[in-house]
Amino acid sequence: MRICVIPGDGIGPEVIGAAMRVLRALAPDAAITEVEAGWGAFERHGVALPTASLAAARAADAILFGAVASPSHAVPGYRSPIVQLRRDLDLYANIRPVSGSGVGRPVDLVIVRENTEDLYIGRERLEDDGATAIAERVITRRASARIARAAFDLARRRAADLGRPPRVTVAHKANVLRVSDGLFRETVLAVAREYPEVAVEEMLVDVAAMRLAQTPERFDVLVTTNMFGDILSDVACIHGGGLGLAASANVGDARALFEPVHGAAPDIAGQGTANPLAAITCVAMLLEWRGLSLPAAHLRAAIASVLRDGPRTPDLGGAAKTTDVTEAVLARL
Ligand code: NAI
Ligand code: MG
Repeated sequence: MRICVIPGDGIGPEVIGAAMRVLRALAPDAAITEVEAGWGAFERHGVALPTASLAAARAADAILFGAVASPSHAVPGYRSPIVQLRRDLDLYANIRPVSGSGVGRPVDLVIVRENTEDLYIGRERLEDDGATAIAERVITRRASARIARAAFDLARRRAADLGRPPRVTVAHKANVLRVSDGLFRETVLAVAREYPEVAVEEMLVDVAAMRLAQTPERFDVLVTTNMFGDILSDVACIHGGGLGLAASANVGDARALFEPVHGAAPDIAGQGTANPLAAITCVAMLLEWRGLSLPAAHLRAAIASVLRDGPRTPDLGGAAKTTDVTEAVLARL
């Protein structure tokens, strides 16, 4: 198994360092290549995703990605490397599972976010002497259909694993965005007819946000467009213990990239207190994706045991360091 590792910026290298220790322990034969991307890479090379990094990602079976610090203002020549990787490697399905009992009720849901289009294609421009900003939103039938299939296939597999009837919620805003979300909605509902055993419900995205916050246990698989999925998955991750625990997969037909949902966390970077469990859970997802279910199950059990008994980093109310938590996971393995 060839794995490309992209630590990135801020706490990215801290949590990916932890994840690599776990990966080496569980898959000692994996060939690991580490490459640069992000704001630091941009400052050093003038490009956020150097050609060599993209080539290494392309050559790998799987990619482990930390986080990058993308500026919130326009910087000429800077493009978010994670958005570019998702598009260039056609990692079209962003899978964001949330499980836990953050509101005292057991939650087990997955957000399936379209990963290659929508407003994130980055076609923005100023008109009217800079007084008007325009962003293009692109939704295609092809991308909507394949993300719908990813969601319905997942719902089917989960129903078999969890022993409960499958349900897919389609979150959109077709009441306002009649053309773009209209196409998304219509395409997903057409795919739904191929899965008669899966219950389907539609929900406007703003209501979906409220229900995810309030009654998360009512959800099974939620499928949505790129930006709505970005926002809804941060809302949902509260129930799984917050950003320090939320892991995600970006899956294409041939390869996949695994990354914590969180960003570079500049407020805590360099302090050695970042929670490594989101990145370590990415290793479990990577192993599962490769069919290595036994080491993955051992790792999930080790993570659950550390969550139950500690040590815990400050985001979970503890005082432990990143390395304490990592070593606790390794000790249980
Ligand atoms: P963030 O996810 O980096 O941080 C949000 C809050 O959660 C902060 O208070 C942070 O300390 C905390 N947090 C995040 N991960 C944590 C962890 N593992 N352990 C403990 N606490 C954790 O989001 P923010 O602050 O909005 O963005 C910071 C930078 O990260 C920005 O430059 C942004 O562009 C970038 N970003 C990158 C992403 C990526 O690479 N996929 C995703 C989200 C943001
Ligand atoms: Mg996000």
